[in-house]
Amino acid sequence: MHRRSFLNGIGYAAGLSISSAVLNRVSFSQSATPNPATAGGPYKLPPLPYAYDALEPYIDAETMHIHHDKHHASYVEHLNAAVAGYPELASQTVDDLVADLDSLPEHVRTAVRNQGGGDANHSFWWPILSKSGGTEPKAELAKDIDAQFGSFSRFQEQFSKAAAGVFGSGWAWLTLSSGGKLQIESSANQDSPLTNGRTPVIGIDVWEHAYYLKYQNRRPEYVAAFFHIVNWDFVSCQYAAAKKAQRT
Ligand SMILES: [Fe+2]
Repeated sequence: MHRRSFLNGIGYAAGLSISSAVLNRVSFSQSATPNPATAGGPYKLPPLPYAYDALEPYIDAETMHIHHDKHHASYVEHLNAAVAGYPELASQTVDDLVADLDSLPEHVRTAVRNQGGGDANHSFWWPILSKSGGTEPKAELAKDIDAQFGSFSRFQEQFSKAAAGVFGSGWAWLTLSSGGKLQIESSANQDSPLTNGRTPVIGIDVWEHAYYLKYQNRRPEYVAAFFHIVNWDFVSCQYAAAKKAQRT
């Protein structure tokens, strides 16, 4: 199986079960279908785990159509083209490829960084979005955010500032280090925190393709809207699995 998020992988590796709420959500994929253009290679476009209009009014359905079916599909298609002829790479997950770029043949390294990063980042992103996943972090994640940032609202302020401040195209992240520390960071283009050994907890895509149809140049409004659609139940569950995996 080539498609999974890094956090999902940790959860499975730790023998942890995903909550029924998460499973119900993942099975609710009635309207999004993989792009046939990516069907020929080892990496597949994962379906959206909800309908295209599920995040309205915060993210509009047209943006979701284009973002998932065109942009994400393109990353997968170009990743497949990049690894053609490298069966030893195609047997790895895209998260594994992105996490160890230095081990890749130089000929494919940049393509995997950009196209594989785009696939990994978006595949991580779709499942952390929902209008019904709670309004704030839960359990261990809530406790750790309070300890690291002072409060959830202070974390939101710092994260929003980082997202608004990304120059050009990129992402802002809340990540977990291998030492168990939370931090806010940003990345350019489709660079992934996995490459630097950090696990994404949440992220926000601030490429213009993620918001421009609805928000035009008002990125801060889009960032504010993002906090209405973070699936904190799912994120908190995944975070607990990641922390448990670090302790074992
Ligand atoms: Fe994107």
